[in-house]
Amino acid sequence: MLKNDPRAPGGKEVKLTSITICGESNNFPITADASKEYLLDVRHLWVRSRKMNAIFKIRDTVFEAVHSFFRKKGYYEVQGPMFITAAVEGGATLFKVDYFGREVYLTQSSQFYLEALIFSLEKVYTIAPSFRAEKSRTRRHVTEFWHAEAEVAWVGLEEILKVEEELISYVVDKVLDKNQDELKILKRDLTKLENIKPPFYRYRYDDVIDELNKKGFKLSWGEDLGADEERAFTQDFDKPIFVIGYPIQCKAFYHRNDPKHPGTTLSADLLAPEGYGEIIGGGERIYDERELINKIIEFGLKPEDYEWYIDLRRYGTVPHAGFGLGMDRLIMWIAGLDHIVDAIPFPRTIRRVRP
Ligand code: 4AD
Ligand code: MG
Repeated sequence: MLKNDPRAPGGKEVKLTSITICGESNNFPITADASKEYLLDVRHLWVRSRKMNAIFKIRDTVFEAVHSFFRKKGYYEVQGPMFITAAVEGGATLFKVDYFGREVYLTQSSQFYLEALIFSLEKVYTIAPSFRAEKSRTRRHVTEFWHAEAEVAWVGLEEILKVEEELISYVVDKVLDKNQDELKILKRDLTKLENIKPPFYRYRYDDVIDELNKKGFKLSWGEDLGADEERAFTQDFDKPIFVIGYPIQCKAFYHRNDPKHPGTTLSADLLAPEGYGEIIGGGERIYDERELINKIIEFGLKPEDYEWYIDLRRYGTVPHAGFGLGMDRLIMWIAGLDHIVDAIPFPRTIRRVRP
């Protein structure tokens, strides 16, 4: 029987009338002084904790909200394969798989398959795993993450940024609506979430470099922004920030170059505030066949590895744009966690593949 009791952590006490033992627990291995590493070793038991329970409820809301946002906006949900034969995001982070004696890879992004599908469905999205053999040990990198990706025909950078800011605002709003109790358990400062509404801030890459150099960094134009740079830049913002116009060498080959700003791409990352940094990468895709082949070659890649991707431009093409959102990073920021592994029930990192 449940009895209301304001002193109880959940507001209720169980009053026993009878008891049946289903299974005994002798010497439960988790104690109050368990280290973070140990809690990851026994994650299969730690998932029962109040903290993990609160995070997973928020995670559930975030997944549900991303689906409902896209469906409301008329997108079709699609699925790409996980075994692939050519890199989307550069060869350095590909996981190799022995596929009946042939070398194939685990996908880094479903983007190319979404691009193929816009010619059938016009507006598509997916939520699927992506894999990166990331050697960087940061608080925000895992080797397997959940990736929400969208691709839209007939739109450019401006329109896709609108979709991104509406999506993020919608998701935060749903969490505020459904997860007040969980945010309280996690001691999340709600004022940091209540202001997340469009329009988000916009900076050009050049201005970000200037700002960071004023803060003591020594960055030269053309360098990519890493976790440290993004942390310093986003620390004091109260809303997410779009960083627009990254140099060509910072971004994958498929990004369209910006004719108005030579040397840069029609791309944008969305950085979460409070030091969290990149949660979305996206922009306009090259839709002209010749332009794509030239850029593949410029990047030192082989057009023959991208034959079917080039076909999408060869047999009828349209301008299009899209983006990829790291679900686990989004949850990390919304829940105010200090490490991405806590956003995921069973995280995979460079050193951890169990439980
Ligand atoms: O910026 P990324 O590499 O972009 C792409 O993969 C594009 N093909 C997406 C697209 O346009 N369809 O990855 C997109 C997002 C990042 O902003 C980040 O949130 C997340 O995926 N991400 C990771 N999350 C956790 N661990 C990792 N190792 C991640 N790598 C990327
Ligand atoms: Mg990126």
